Amino acid sequence: DDESGQAAFDAVIAADSRIEPRDWMPEDYRRTLIRQISQHAHSEIIGMQPEGNWITRAPSLKRKAILLAKVQDEAGHGLYLYSAAQTLGITRDEMTRQLIDGKAKYSSIFNYPTPTWADMGAIGWLVDGAAICNQVPLCRASYGPYARAMVRICKEESFHQRQGFEILLTLMQGTDAQREMAQESVDRWYWPALMMFGPPDDESPNSARSMAWKIKRFSNDELRQRFVGMLVPQAEALGVSLPDPTLRWNAQEERYDMSEIDWTEFHEILAGRGPMNAVRIQNRRNAHEDGAWVREAAVAYARRQALKAER
Ligand code: 3HC
Repeated sequence: DDESGQAAFDAVIAADSRIEPRDWMPEDYRRTLIRQISQHAHSEIIGMQPEGNWITRAPSLKRKAILLAKVQDEAGHGLYLYSAAQTLGITRDEMTRQLIDGKAKYSSIFNYPTPTWADMGAIGWLVDGAAICNQVPLCRASYGPYARAMVRICKEESFHQRQGFEILLTLMQGTDAQREMAQESVDRWYWPALMMFGPPDDESPNSARSMAWKIKRFSNDELRQRFVGMLVPQAEALGVSLPDPTLRWNAQEERYDMSEIDWTEFHEILAGRGPMNAVRIQNRRNAHEDGAWVREAAVAYARRQALKAER
């Protein structure tokens, strides 16, 4: 019953153990996980578009092969995560519907355009860097299927981050025009990457509960701070500057002082009014509709196989 279920659930959380799909869990815990995991899956799938934009224009065969592999990894991450969400009782179809109807959230970061090749570097370095900071602690999330999916995803993300860093490093060792292109791209992606961690702690409605349930292990602001701490020496190694004149280490408080994030921009994007929101959803909807015949054929085939097995 619910009472003994709740007690068993509380004991698992207190012991830092894992909840598995068949275990009793509070309905709100289930809902929170479906929300977070499906948003995460959508982010991976929508996240294929900004980089997909450069596959046909990568500057060499080697760069093209790497970019193709990376975008394919993201599709794989999306599939693991949809599968993890399905263990909680939602179907892939429902999740896809929510996404293409514009009802589901996905990471704000994928609503910005990618006009230059340097954006492939900045996305790898900053966007995948932020993703790693946020996702390494999720490998210890209390829900088993999510935590296990995150382990593999994080390994691939760290490869992605290095390939982005290496693109920027190559550009920074190139001509003046290439260095300018790298810096201009970092200037555009820095603030949106900081927004990936979500609203400030005092405006994050889900944090306290998700932390008590050990889904989240650190707050949005804690992870944002950790990310900036990671970037500072890497920016120095690259020779790029981070576009925040007030950024400096505050030894007394043991944190970085930084300028205020433009939260209006963040909320506009979450409301669907970012520069690329409409394009991203339209592309996803077209892909889903164009793929209908594949799904129909797969269902027809499965039905025929089942009939054969019955005979
Ligand atoms: N973009 C879009 N929505 C965001 C957001 C962002 N950057 N940050 C927060 N939000 C949304 C939340 O989803 C929540 O919406 P909801 O209540 O309607 O579902 C609302 O804003 C309030 O934020 P909270 O801080 O209360 O929400 P959470 O406790 O869920 O924390 C989070 C937000 C830190 C993003 C958390 O959900 C999380 O860690 N998610 C898993 C990681 C993830 O989704 N990453 C996607 C990044 S990109 C990626 O992984 C692809 C890779 O290839 C780069």
